[in-house]
Amino acid sequence: MDFRLTDEQQMIQAAARDFAKQQIEPVAAQFDASGEFPLDNIQAMGELGLMGIEVSEAYGGSGLDTIGYVLAMIEISAADAAHGTIMSVNNSLFCNGILKYGTEDQKQKYVRAIASGEKIGAYALTEPQSGSDASAMKSRAVMSADGTHYLINARKSWITSGPYARYLVLFASTDPEAGAKGITAFLVDTEKAGFSRGKTEPKLGIRASATCEVELTDYHCPVEDRLGEEGEGFKIAMSVLDAGRIGIAAQAVGIAQAAYEASLAYARDRKAFGKEIGTFQMIQSKLADMKTRLEAARLLTLKAAWSKMESEKTGARITTEGSMAKLFASEAAMWIAHQAVQIHGGMGYSKEMPVERYFRDAKITEIYEGTSEIQRMVIARSETGLR
Ligand code: CAA
Repeated sequence: MDFRLTDEQQMIQAAARDFAKQQIEPVAAQFDASGEFPLDNIQAMGELGLMGIEVSEAYGGSGLDTIGYVLAMIEISAADAAHGTIMSVNNSLFCNGILKYGTEDQKQKYVRAIASGEKIGAYALTEPQSGSDASAMKSRAVMSADGTHYLINARKSWITSGPYARYLVLFASTDPEAGAKGITAFLVDTEKAGFSRGKTEPKLGIRASATCEVELTDYHCPVEDRLGEEGEGFKIAMSVLDAGRIGIAAQAVGIAQAAYEASLAYARDRKAFGKEIGTFQMIQSKLADMKTRLEAARLLTLKAAWSKMESEKTGARITTEGSMAKLFASEAAMWIAHQAVQIHGGMGYSKEMPVERYFRDAKITEIYEGTSEIQRMVIARSETGLR
């Protein structure tokens, strides 16, 4: 076993770290306060190759591996988790599924636009009545009599990047009687007739990442824009989430790293009772546990990334690896951010320090791309073989 990074992995990590320190960190609090979408930064990240890290150069990406993607996600999310969210949707939820199930034309048109950072992508699975129970969707797609297109009527909620997305990967049922096996995936252009956006969600954290409802009313989707075969949609949605969850685990590691580093600096600097607070055993105990959970989360996330790279050769599913990494890293991030606020005392509760933002941002990692409860269910089902 070799824990050393390759030259390429170190290169993307350094590029992401430099950009994060210079362009994101100084404005993160301002974007959090205003809730404005950081469009200029996202385009600049696209130019740096951060929007399609695993996408080959032939489709406008960087042609790097999943470990490189995880390392870059950690650096960006440590500076601002909201930037990390937008990056993860473009990389994992949008590009991954099309690379795996799309046609050559779909890759050229849709992946290229998003991986290059020219446009923003989104993934539309959740509906107002179906979050965790994703296959209980009501959205419908009906094939036209001449077989040239589908008519889609859909209402999707909690669509990350929805307000700014040009293209969506969207799931709708083509055969409601068949349940999960009747779901089909489509590529939707938000500039076409029949597409509209609903309310933007006012959120606790990742406030610069915009989230909204979207609605499709008699939207004409050409057959060429169906992703995969009819009835393959749920499998596509789930296998995209297998990879997506590794990205969210990396985002959680980034938040946890920032919270830990801020706490370490504060413990060295802040004095109470005539000494640095880092000399007190109760603070030391917190720092030791924070560091240990942070490193465990990082290793589980990198292991999941490595498993994804192996699975590209073997075709093996990485469902359990992705779920374990997301479950552990998100709960570690929440716990570490909680300790960080406590170590900072009153300053941890103040908007003048970034730790209260880490605390608010960490929470979403336990919820989106499958709650912690869903991850536990997925892991236990896979281990026991029982349903
Ligand atoms: N890969 C491939 N196929 C898979 C799969 C996977 N990971 N998971 C399930 N399938 C297949 C199953 O094998 C099964 O097919 P067969 O019958 O042929 O075996 C079929 O899909 C149905 O699977 P289940 O019976 O397990 O389905 P279920 O209804 O019990 O649901 C679930 C499973 C794990 C609960 C799933 O619904 C789930 O993951 N829910 C959470 C949804 C979620 O994560 N939503 C996040 C929204 S996106 C988001 O959050 C993005 C964002 O904002 C950034």
